Amino acid sequence: MEDLPERLSIAILGCGKLGTSLLCGFLSPKRSTPTLSTFPSLLSSVRTPLEISNISVTVREAASVDRVRQAVLSLQSTSSPSRPSPPQVTVGLQDQNARAAQEADVVILGCKSYAFADILCDQDVRTALLGNERRKTLVSVLGGVTIAQLQSCLSDSNAQEFNDKQQRPGITDPECLCTIVRAVPNMAARNRESVTIISSSDPSIPPQDDNNRQVNRLFALLGPTKTLLESQINHASAIAASSLAFYAKIIAGAADGALDCGNGQGLSKEDAMWISAQAVRGTSGLVAAGQDPSCVVAEVATKGGSTAAGLKVMEERGVIEAVSAAVKECARATEMLSNASTR
Ligand SMILES: NC(=O)c1ccc[n+]([C@@H]2O[C@H](COP(=O)([O-])OP(=O)(O)OC[C@H]3O[C@@H](n4cnc5c(N)ncnc54)[C@H](OP(=O)(O)O)[C@@H]3O)[C@@H](O)[C@H]2O)c1
Repeated sequence: MEDLPERLSIAILGCGKLGTSLLCGFLSPKRSTPTLSTFPSLLSSVRTPLEISNISVTVREAASVDRVRQAVLSLQSTSSPSRPSPPQVTVGLQDQNARAAQEADVVILGCKSYAFADILCDQDVRTALLGNERRKTLVSVLGGVTIAQLQSCLSDSNAQEFNDKQQRPGITDPECLCTIVRAVPNMAARNRESVTIISSSDPSIPPQDDNNRQVNRLFALLGPTKTLLESQINHASAIAASSLAFYAKIIAGAADGALDCGNGQGLSKEDAMWISAQAVRGTSGLVAAGQDPSCVVAEVATKGGSTAAGLKVMEERGVIEAVSAAVKECARATEMLSNASTR
């Protein structure tokens, strides 16, 4: 018999492009294959299903409240079959940040990277995060913002909260008042096809730690997760999150090529784009299943054949070097963002 589900309440403070994608993923009835690639034993040891009871999200502008509500409505109207008890969604403005954080077990910070202090330095938000008997988890999805930066934002009140609470049983360590985790999901979270890179505030905390386990299980609802050191996260995010933009360009470029050579008898743009996207999905499935990319190339291209002719053009134009350089530059820019905001 399956155990009763573990029910989790979450908040997304800053529900923009990525936040909305996470929200839609959490609301989607589609199940992702739950793979915790780094800790497969962890998943198998967890029999309790995870259920999200409610999601409270906040934004800055009134127009964004409508945008998020519209996204939820259109998801509900296209979802079939719907879940027996879908999560309750509350959408509010930034003056609801503290309430949303107070009511949540896991608080996801999803504003722009430069705006994190606006949210976390608010005294009510800090109290909501730190002033609890049960330790909350703050998950930052912000590119280039380090755990140390987030910690320092909370630290003034951390000490104060600790002093206030020393009289209460069960809270003995100021570091335990809030667990901070960095997570880098991507826009495919909407379809539960993201990969999420996760790094926690203390690498010595075992993955079985309740809060870490919770974050891994939560993001495993949106696709596979991978736990890395925080020092690796900027590089990993270039291929985990930003690269979707690069692949989208490659899909569109390949489709355009097929359209250009049709001499008026060719494919429709829609068909070309769909076929191109499916081909990328297929390739990614082969490589993710363990096939080396060079083997895929060898299996597809025959010496003197049409694929080889196409590969020759790619090599002559330095496409691969350009893609590698783009990823390198992207990781460097994220690194600079981290360094700039620690100064
Ligand atoms: N986009 C991606 O593919 C992706 C992938 C991985 C990581 N990230 C990271 O995720 C973060 C967000 O990116 P994004 O593309 O989703 O940005 P975005 O679309 O600009 O979303 C930011 C959201 O934060 C809201 N906000 C700003 N200040 C707020 C406050 N004080 N209280 C409550 N909400 C507030 C904004 O509200 P309004 O809408 O009303 O302005 C907006 O909805 C960035 O740090 C980025 O590096 C993004």
